[in-house]
Amino acid sequence: MSVPVIAVDGPTASGKGTLARCIAAALDFAHLDTGTLYRAVAAKLLEAGESPDDADAATRAAEVLVAEDLDRADLRQESVSQAASRVARLSPVRAALLEFQRRFAHRPPGGKGGAVLDGRDIGTVVCPDAEVKLFITASAEVRAMRRHRELLDRGEGSIYARVLQDLEERDARDSGRAVAPLKAAPDAVVIDTSEMDIDTAVEAAMAAVAEVLET
Ligand code: CDP
Repeated sequence: MSVPVIAVDGPTASGKGTLARCIAAALDFAHLDTGTLYRAVAAKLLEAGESPDDADAATRAAEVLVAEDLDRADLRQESVSQAASRVARLSPVRAALLEFQRRFAHRPPGGKGGAVLDGRDIGTVVCPDAEVKLFITASAEVRAMRRHRELLDRGEGSIYARVLQDLEERDARDSGRAVAPLKAAPDAVVIDTSEMDIDTAVEAAMAAVAEVLET
């Protein structure tokens, strides 16, 4: 029997990860942050001194990915973020990660009654039949300011202009790539969180979910 799937896509620092976690907690669904898969592949390549543009090396790394790789402490480093969006352009890497994501969506771990996946291409490629599709966005400046504050809160040095530049570079790479580019599915509900605090954004997302799942 198929279980409901909620696809949450959007660019970096749009709030999609937080929203996906909140939706999953509210519905007691399993949650997968699909970005960690690309980050884990990138981190393994950097560690081995290989290039994130080397399709053979990246595909091998994706094929042998294990659960522990997703718990690495270095996954949120900026160098890993940039390398992740480079490996994410390679179609054999995406193909190698597709099966894992679909299995998670259709047979969520822990016997959960549904799954929430967040990423860039969940509503368009990974789960085009998802019951609910949300596309979370916000202006580049607002997203850069959120990321900048997050870095400062973590005690890491940060320069706003640099964060904005990195974010725009990654947006351009993610939206401009040939395979599974970042874009809203035609049937996605678009939520712009530029002017919303997290509680308001969660309310908007839960309202969209409730309309379809009648929770
Ligand atoms: O957390 P943040 O939004 O900054 O990034 P992420 O979701 O962890 O994703 C890191 C990178 O992986 C992105 O810049 C994308 O290039 C790639 N990615 C992807 O191509 N497809 C996905 N479903 C998820 C992530």
